[in-house]
Amino acid sequence: MPAAQHTKRVLILNGPNLNMLGVRQPEVYGRDTLDTIKAACTTFATQRGWTLDFRQSNAEADLVTWIQQAREGADAVIINPAAYTHTSVAILDALLLLETPVIEVHLSNIHKREDFRHHSFVSRAATGLIVGFGAKGYLMALSALDDATD
Ligand code: DQA
Repeated sequence: MPAAQHTKRVLILNGPNLNMLGVRQPEVYGRDTLDTIKAACTTFATQRGWTLDFRQSNAEADLVTWIQQAREGADAVIINPAAYTHTSVAILDALLLLETPVIEVHLSNIHKREDFRHHSFVSRAATGLIVGFGAKGYLMALSALDDATD
C-alpha cells in the first residue's frame, strides 16, 4: 500500500534583527520587509497545498525551542539564523536533532563580507545553502523543497 500522504509542513525561522528588514542596511539586505517576504512565501506554499509557519525571534532560546518542536511539527525547515549563524553552537545542536531537510538562507553573500561572517556553525546541519540572492533566496529555498518527499 502506498504510504499515507499528508500536507507538507514547512517551518521558516528568522533570527535577530530580521524584523528590521526594510530599514536595516537596505544597501546590504534590500528593501523588502519581513512581512513582504512572509507574504511571498505564503503564496508560494499555498499554491502547492503546503502549510507554512513563518517566525522571527531576536532570542536564541526561542529559535532553539522552535527547532526542537520541528522534530514533530515540520517536514522541512528553512532558517536564516542571522547573527547566530556565526556564534551559535546551540542552534547547530538543535538542527542536528532534525531528520528533515534543513536549508540555510542568507539575504547577503556572507562570503563577500567581513571575515567573521564567513564561518557558519549552522552549515554543518544544513542540507543546502542559499546566500546572496536577497529576499528571493527564501523562494529559492522553498522551490528546492518541491522535489523533497511529502
Ligand atoms: C544575514 C547575514 C548575517 O551575517 C547577519 O548577521 C544577518 C543577516 C543575511 O541574511 O544576510 O543578520 O543572515
